[in-house]
Amino acid sequence: MTEWRREIDRLKKDRNAVILAHNYQLEEVQAVADYVGDSFYLSKIAAKVAAEVIVFCGVRFMAETAKILSPDKTVLLPEVAAGCPLADTITAQDIERLKQQHADAAVVCYINSSAQVKAASDVCCTSANAVKIAGSLPNKKLIFVPDKNLGDYIAKRLPEKEFVLGEGCCPTHAQVTPDHVEKMRARYPGAQLLVHPECCPEVTGQADFAGSTSAIIHSAESSAAQVFLIGTEIGVLFALKASQPHKQFILLHEGLVCPDMKKTNIQSVYNALANNCHEIMNDKALFDKARQSISRMLELA
Ligand code: 13P
Repeated sequence: MTEWRREIDRLKKDRNAVILAHNYQLEEVQAVADYVGDSFYLSKIAAKVAAEVIVFCGVRFMAETAKILSPDKTVLLPEVAAGCPLADTITAQDIERLKQQHADAAVVCYINSSAQVKAASDVCCTSANAVKIAGSLPNKKLIFVPDKNLGDYIAKRLPEKEFVLGEGCCPTHAQVTPDHVEKMRARYPGAQLLVHPECCPEVTGQADFAGSTSAIIHSAESSAAQVFLIGTEIGVLFALKASQPHKQFILLHEGLVCPDMKKTNIQSVYNALANNCHEIMNDKALFDKARQSISRMLELA
């Protein structure tokens, strides 16, 4: 492991590269990253970082967003097959159809979406800023795609708006049911329940806190509680345990492991830097259009 790390550090210097890793990445990947965080934090870093090369340890839409924000940089996605089944539930054609049906609505797309979907939307958002972004739009009616669970979470916080929701969901978070919550609450009485709003409304509604992966980490840090049930992907446990070793963090459900996020390992990070794998190419016309919805998010958030 230390050998890989040494080589990665050497290549990072040689290539003037930085490594960005999402909170869901394996511990060995988070350990070699220059920046670790949620989708919103990482997109802000990708927009302003000075390095020539960005190795994005996450899934395709994240690396694609980094390339859209920094088209002159080399952006590498270490594992070419690291996708997002939630992002795949919506197409630009679906959005055009929804726009025709709801001409007065603004389209808000979750960052977990393709460049085509971002290009067809008015504004993009992440779970960290979704309520703020949706709430700041002048339209009463909003089309929110593709995550129906995050959409429901936003809609409940903005009762003055009218929502048309997409039908997608994250298969990893969607596994968690109210039965799991009930069982785990009985097993750990008094534990705080922290969940991601990609969980279903029946789970999110019972949580002590719902928010982005980084917001979950910060919420635990500022809480006096000692025991936490974590309703998001297992990768957040690394940061939680490292920053608060005296507290107990228990995964709400054993299935909270994203197969796509777990494709990247330390060898694939090395390979990305050594062999320029796998470069996200700039599709200029498409990415210029998609940049508008991401830039609007960065302005409004
Ligand atoms: P965050 O924006 O909270 O990091 O979440 C990304 C994601 O894909 C959640 O499943």
